[in-house]
Amino acid sequence: MYILGIETSCDETGVAIYDSSFWESNQPAHLGLLGQSLYSQVKMHEIYGGVVPELASRDHIRLGLPLIEDCLKKSGLTISQIDGIAYTKGPGLAGALLVGTSIAKAMAFALSKKIIGIHHLEGHLLSPLLSPNTEGFHTQDLFPFLALLVSGGHTQLMLVKDIGVYELLGETLDDAAGEAFDKTAKLLGLSYPGGPAVSLLAKQGTPGKFNLPRPLIHSKNLDFSFAGLKTAVLTQTKLKIQTDQTLDPQFKADLSLAFVEAVVEVLCKKVKDAIHLTKCKTLVVAGGVGANEQLRAGLNGIAKHLDIQVLFPPLDLCTDNGAMIAFAGAVKLLKNPNLAESTLCFDVKPRWPLDQLIT
Ligand code: KG4
Ligand code: ZN
Repeated sequence: MYILGIETSCDETGVAIYDSSFWESNQPAHLGLLGQSLYSQVKMHEIYGGVVPELASRDHIRLGLPLIEDCLKKSGLTISQIDGIAYTKGPGLAGALLVGTSIAKAMAFALSKKIIGIHHLEGHLLSPLLSPNTEGFHTQDLFPFLALLVSGGHTQLMLVKDIGVYELLGETLDDAAGEAFDKTAKLLGLSYPGGPAVSLLAKQGTPGKFNLPRPLIHSKNLDFSFAGLKTAVLTQTKLKIQTDQTLDPQFKADLSLAFVEAVVEVLCKKVKDAIHLTKCKTLVVAGGVGANEQLRAGLNGIAKHLDIQVLFPPLDLCTDNGAMIAFAGAVKLLKNPNLAESTLCFDVKPRWPLDQLIT
């Protein structure tokens, strides 16, 4: 099956085509990705310091079809060769989700194709299977594995028992890790989105200048909390303004480093606890914060120490993209063809807990 994936949950319009025969024959999964096209709206939203939902929807409308056309060309396929369409049904911005869903449903109706709605986080969760690192061992043998999902809206540890069978082990009680990065960047006057800006600046920082909290690091469960960390950053910036009236570049770098160290230390400690609890031999890391170099180094260290393997999605698949939706759609339809939707009526799920998704 050739599955076309359409992602429009937030500020990236992503489309891709996945050939499910690669998964079916247990070959390295990334080889099945025939082509993808992506447009990021980051520049448009940057001046507002965050995503403006109405503008996001309009831009998805503007670019949805041209990106699909481009992706078909890259994949060497015509639209009539596509067997099914996977689209992001939620969670995300309601208007933005509706754009991708409308395109997907209209195409499926007009061309008589199979269609399946995908949970955005399930896409992220499975995207590390598209890592070229899986070369050399069979992708389907990786189950069960532990997944750390670190995106702008979620921080979760999941036990992935099989495609569609997920158990939530722990999650953030307040801010997500990505959200804490974005808020810290805003406090320091850095560009949006904050994650890449804060991690880049942290490289110029001097260690030990600030002692920031490690929320819940010693708690007995696998939950997280990052709101207190953000408040600690706010307190430090206020103190600095009171004494110096400005935030100089070295202060920003030192505080960025202290912040990144605190986030990475908490995430790594909880991952270690989760590995001990589940005895999983594979850890996969998904979501935008998974692009963070310092986090990758910390988790690689743990993997070496505990003799497990860790998989990160390729950098371009860490943030939102169509490939993860095409892939999730393909493997879910292979596992259970009955998941194809039979109705032309549609709705989207702006809020949708992933652990309720047992398919
Ligand atoms: O998964 P994603 O693209 O979108 C959501 O579904 O939320 O994640 C976006 C988040 C943002 O908070 C962004 O600041 C963060 O991922 N991010 C990073 C890095 N690149 C993106 N955080 C830390 N370091 C990075 N290099
Ligand atoms: Zn995402």
